[in-house]
Amino acid sequence: MSTEFTIKEAKGTDYLHVKRFIELVDTDFYPPLSERGGGISERMQRDLDTPEANYLIARLSEPDSSDPLCGIIGMIGCTRNWKGKDTAYVNFLATHPDHRGHGISKELTIRYEKLLAEQGIRQIYLCTWSSNPAAIKFYEDRGYYAYSIVLNDRGNGVDTIYYKKKI
Ligand SMILES: CC(C)(COP(=O)(O)OP(=O)(O)OC[C@H]1O[C@@H](n2cnc3c(N)ncnc32)[C@H](O)[C@@H]1OP(=O)(O)O)[C@@H](O)C(=O)NCCC(=O)NCCS
Repeated sequence: MSTEFTIKEAKGTDYLHVKRFIELVDTDFYPPLSERGGGISERMQRDLDTPEANYLIARLSEPDSSDPLCGIIGMIGCTRNWKGKDTAYVNFLATHPDHRGHGISKELTIRYEKLLAEQGIRQIYLCTWSSNPAAIKFYEDRGYYAYSIVLNDRGNGVDTIYYKKKI
């Protein structure tokens, strides 16, 4: 199946659809994003269309008019100047559950890396958790290197794995 989509930076006016998308994938994260400090609202205040951070949104080219997400099928979020001026941190990545395995996150990552490189970013940081084999394979296949692991960081034997990549 090929899905036609476009990728654009989010704007403040996307707030409602971005919030619904994060809520849709909330429990795919461990722990859920809604259970982390400040929850989803604070996350969005910090990461949506600010001078330091924003999301790139993958959106269906022809969304159904009744779609509460207005066609959003994937998003990556990034914060610049993370550990110094030429570094960034990926604060969010998810594909809509109905659209996984079709290269959407791959395309989002390629596009964001290009955008960040144009903005002078040289190193990208991110993390995931040890019970997420899809994300681990995804990042390692894209050249991210695990430089630190915090054992049982998330409880129930689930570790946090920190990755970085030079771009
Ligand atoms: C991880 C996730 C973002 C991948 O998104 P996606 O759009 O389905 O990924 P893509 O189709 O672009 O996959 C690209 C590559 O990722 C890897 N991958 C993706 N899903 C995978 C899976 N279920 N199992 C193993 N590898 C997987 C593969 O290397 C794949 O490349 P290939 O199939 O061409 O060999 C998606 O599963 C997701 O949204 N998960 C829930 C949220 C999450 O875990 N986010 C990351 C938090 S750190």
